[in-house]
Amino acid sequence: MHFSRRGLALLPLFISGVLTDYLTPTYPAPIDLSGDTSFVAASWRNLSSTFDRYLKDEQSSASKSLSGVENVTFSVGMFSLHDPAATKLQYHYTAPEIANAKQGTNKVDGDSIYRVASVSKLITTFAGLVELTEEDWNRPLIQIIPGLGAYSRAYPQALNSLYITQWDKITPWALATQQSGIATVGWPVSDLAVILAAAVAEGLDGVDEPTSYGLPPVNVSALGPCATKYLKDPTNTFCPSPEGIEAIDGLPPNFLPWTTPAYSDEGFMLLGIAISNLTGKPLSAVYRDAVFEPLGMKSSNDTHPTGKAELARSVISGDPAANFALETGFTTPSGGILSTINDLSKLGIGIMNNTLLTAETTRKWMKPQSHTASLSYSIGGGWEIHRYVHPATGKVTDLYTKLGDSGFYGGALVLIPQYDAGFTMLNAYSNQTIRSPAAILILDHVTDAILPALEAQAAAEARANYVGTYVSTEETLNASVTISFNESSVPGIISGLSVTAWTFNGTDILEGPLFNGIKPRLEPSIPKQTPDGLPGQVAFQASHQVQMLTYRAAMDVPDSGVVGTWTGFYATNGDFVYTDSTRYGGVGLNMFVFDVDGEGRATACSPAIDRVTLRRRVDD
Ligand SMILES: *[C@@H]1O[C@H](CO)[C@@H](O)[C@H](O)[C@H]1NC(C)=O
Ligand SMILES: *[C@@H]1O[C@H](CO)[C@@H](O)[C@H](O)[C@H]1NC(C)=O
Ligand SMILES: *[C@@H]1O[C@H](CO)[C@@H](O)[C@H](O)[C@H]1NC(C)=O
Ligand SMILES: *[C@@H]1O[C@H](CO)[C@@H](O)[C@H](O)[C@H]1NC(C)=O
Ligand SMILES: *[C@@H]1O[C@H](CO)[C@@H](O)[C@H](O)[C@H]1NC(C)=O
Ligand SMILES: *[C@@H]1O[C@H](CO)[C@@H](O)[C@H](O)[C@H]1NC(C)=O
Ligand SMILES: *[C@@H]1O[C@H](CO)[C@@H](O)[C@H](O)[C@H]1NC(C)=O
Ligand SMILES: *[C@@H]1O[C@H](CO)[C@@H](O)[C@H](O)[C@H]1NC(C)=O
Ligand SMILES: *[C@@H]1O[C@H](CO)[C@@H](O)[C@H](O)[C@H]1NC(C)=O
Ligand SMILES: *[C@@H]1O[C@H](CO)[C@@H](O)[C@H](O)[C@H]1NC(C)=O
Repeated sequence: MHFSRRGLALLPLFISGVLTDYLTPTYPAPIDLSGDTSFVAASWRNLSSTFDRYLKDEQSSASKSLSGVENVTFSVGMFSLHDPAATKLQYHYTAPEIANAKQGTNKVDGDSIYRVASVSKLITTFAGLVELTEEDWNRPLIQIIPGLGAYSRAYPQALNSLYITQWDKITPWALATQQSGIATVGWPVSDLAVILAAAVAEGLDGVDEPTSYGLPPVNVSALGPCATKYLKDPTNTFCPSPEGIEAIDGLPPNFLPWTTPAYSDEGFMLLGIAISNLTGKPLSAVYRDAVFEPLGMKSSNDTHPTGKAELARSVISGDPAANFALETGFTTPSGGILSTINDLSKLGIGIMNNTLLTAETTRKWMKPQSHTASLSYSIGGGWEIHRYVHPATGKVTDLYTKLGDSGFYGGALVLIPQYDAGFTMLNAYSNQTIRSPAAILILDHVTDAILPALEAQAAAEARANYVGTYVSTEETLNASVTISFNESSVPGIISGLSVTAWTFNGTDILEGPLFNGIKPRLEPSIPKQTPDGLPGQVAFQASHQVQMLTYRAAMDVPDSGVVGTWTGFYATNGDFVYTDSTRYGGVGLNMFVFDVDGEGRATACSPAIDRVTLRRRVDD
């Protein structure tokens, strides 16, 4: 018999072990985030007291790492697909600016209305996924947005010029995944030549002619009708179609489409125009019909509130005209939406619970579309994906996020598929220089507190729900399986469920040639498909593949003089390569299916190749 054990041959190369397995979690998603004994609730209390110590004890303690946060008003909160009460895990801080504000709220809570800034981009993408077809997403923009492409058509001799954007190659999906290569902030009046000309004309203090900054003079009138209109009236920030599109059309690209992710606000403005065109509806109606109403996001809108009740719970930082109450016009799909953390939690749950998209569409959407140049960050359709590395185990957990950070406001929506949970944050302060880094610090603190806690909670629940011995109830069959915690003999494993005994018909399977004495670890593969509260089945893959340090994939191979690029791939991705490469009677050797009750507690185990159901011993 020949079994795939190639991974094991590489064993001596690896020193300390760390999980690098499937993208799936180490354990089924935790059910209890908010209960008294939950690690997540404990870490939230801890996080709250860290904030309290700094913010209420007048920054007395050594928490220098929260510097600046004292002036930023913010709200953060958790949510979970399996624990509705997780939304009670919130923290709110009202900084002096808002406590003393003449308009809006003086004390923030989960229903306080903030601007969400660029979190809008994720909402725009989601609305598009709800409304558009796959074909729409892959259609060239020149077929969708009237006016685009006119510039390149007018200058056919310049088709090879690097100054011409290839609008016929750019699709809505290229925009959503930040891979269009187009200008970052393309709207007409963002041009420094236009801004300076207007400021000089207005006689603004401290602003000089471009030439005094070493910039050659340009003829601003030649920059098109939007520039001219703005010069005449600098409050005229938004230039409508067709002039606005004409101005964007002629801007050179930074990259060719599908070269690299490169952030573009303009891309999401165009995506909004495209969605509006393809649906034949104003974008306001798209947001309302496709997202806000179906998910019950009653405090969310793409225009600032004007009603008395809404204004009373609005977080109005600085002069409202300067930020909160700005008309955002065609920049709305990039950054103009207002919401609350309670509403953003509804959005997070709606996405993860497949309320508006099929489960397949959601899983496909929540994947990277491109690397960045960093090993730690990837980009998806509207997503900024952070690859969190658990300090204790080295396990990688992907955070599907979108950050907002603009003017007086910012925030984040964070979805963590491995735990069916996530968190939200919104913040406000009229000094962006202080607000922006402070907001990022808050997000770092929340992440560092809850990620290890979610993993610990999932581990504790898995231990209680699965560890035990499962035996045949047929008198004539001697068969049993023992599931243990943290007792796998797979080299490098740090923690996890494992199969530590497996006999069938009186034969010890683990000691025999199928496993050669290895006690495999169990990795969740297909989660329970029935609603919470109802019994169902959960599948796992038993893996004997070596575990290794996440960032040592392409390592030095000792005494070889080479960087082990290929060795690293082969060794790191044993699970990926060999999942069910040993099959018996039509099913994978490694497939284990558990019957679980409504609370996720296993009642039976079926090693697929055995074709029996082993009952969990009641005393376990
Ligand atoms: C609480 O926070 C402190 C400091 O960040 C940390 O050392 C400690 O382990 C945390 N405890 C829990 C239960 O999360
Ligand atoms: C916070 O605001 C107060 C009052 O405006 C100001 O004195 C202080 O310097 C600010 N802190 C920081 C870090 O900017
Ligand atoms: C998820 O959707 C199901 C219906 O498909 C519903 O029963 C359940 O309550 C939803 N979960 C949450 C947390 O909203
Ligand atoms: C959508 O775009 C097409 C093609 O450019 C154009 O003919 C049509 O008028 C546009 N419709 C709307 C509603 O903008
Ligand atoms: C500036 O551009 C405008 C519009 O193209 C043109 O009419 C005008 O003659 C130009 N002025 C100069 C000084 O070149
Ligand atoms: C959103 O804004 C529009 C326009 O101001 C308003 O008519 C609508 O009632 C608002 N929706 C909500 C849910 O506040
Ligand atoms: C923001 O705060 C910084 C640091 O306190 C200060 O130097 C800067 O002038 C402030 N900016 C504004 C616009 O108030
Ligand atoms: C599993 O055991 C290792 C030591 O063998 C220990 O470091 C680790 O913390 C344990 N994991 C858990 C979740 O208890
Ligand atoms: C158990 O093993 C015996 C031979 O040792 C064989 O005859 C029998 O079919 C096996 N039973 C099952 C259920 O595999
Ligand atoms: C069942 O098989 C195990 C493992 O081979 C053996 O130790 C045990 O005695 C057997 N029990 C019975 C009742 O045959």
